[in-house]
Amino acid sequence: MPNSPEFPVIRPRRLRRTAALRRLTAETRVHPSDLVLPVFVKEGLHEPVEIATMPGVYQHSVDSVRKLAVDAARAGLGGIMPFAVPLVRDAIGSAATDPNGILNVTTRAIKEEIGDDLVVIPDLCLDELTDHGHCGVLGPDGTVDNDATLVRYGEMGLALAESGADLLGASGMMDGQIGYVRAALDQAGHTDTGLLAYAVKYASAFYGPFREAVESQLQGDRRTYQQDPANAAEAIHELELDLEQGADIVMVKPALPYLDILRTVADRSPVPVAAYHISGEYAQIVAAAERGWIDRDAAILESLTSIKRAGAGIIATYAALDAAALLR
Ligand code: PBG
Repeated sequence: MPNSPEFPVIRPRRLRRTAALRRLTAETRVHPSDLVLPVFVKEGLHEPVEIATMPGVYQHSVDSVRKLAVDAARAGLGGIMPFAVPLVRDAIGSAATDPNGILNVTTRAIKEEIGDDLVVIPDLCLDELTDHGHCGVLGPDGTVDNDATLVRYGEMGLALAESGADLLGASGMMDGQIGYVRAALDQAGHTDTGLLAYAVKYASAFYGPFREAVESQLQGDRRTYQQDPANAAEAIHELELDLEQGADIVMVKPALPYLDILRTVADRSPVPVAAYHISGEYAQIVAAAERGWIDRDAAILESLTSIKRAGAGIIATYAALDAAALLR
């Protein structure tokens, strides 16, 4: 009964029939140049060491990260985001401002290796470098002192700019950090060093594997500075503040549990929007795939496609190299 009213005239399945039709009509495409690879570099290492909580991800030596950066550039990735694991930590994260501190050494080494072929975005935050594991310095009462932390961020930003960073990944969630670091950079003549603002960053349980990767010393949590997962309006407020203060790119983090927030930010932001597919998101996929419960590659591509569909033009992901190979 071909034209009977009981049978549909409009059939969306027509465009799903073959891979070629699906490819032609896909609304979202992830491209390797959208992807930023976060990397961990540990001071004193000679060989890369696999991170137990993140199979396939390594703590690198300065030499091995050079090679990784070359691989990332060859794969056509957009950027690389180094995080440091120092041998010695103290209360103010002194390694941050030491030109021979591991993050500064790493930034210079990567720049030397790949020049402008990748955007180099070291982490501008103290948590990897402090002996208490907080993202800032502590006041006499043991809580994070916002304004004293800004002074350290300003100094750290200058050190990283001098090491050749293209953008600084401001991940600490201190009030006023973007404006403060922008002014410090500008006063020193680093007007071309940009700020990737972690504008919207939630206090997430999914950071667990990362804290293992950087050997975090944190006791407790970051709920006095990172956002409450219950809040959405607050994300708009944070976004607007970072835009006013001069953010060049704004990021939402984590990604998949916050796609609604990502969509809101993308609809409002005049500057490029990034999302961070974080350690716990990566680890969930890898762990389930190791048990044979899901298909690793398909789950990675689906995750990244969903993040892009929700509005992120830029995605930081530990799966960047795998994804680039799959997309080729
Ligand atoms: C803070 C920082 C963290 C992550 C990136 N930058 C840790 C935190 O806020 O506890 C987590 C990233 C991830 O889980 O992959 N410098």
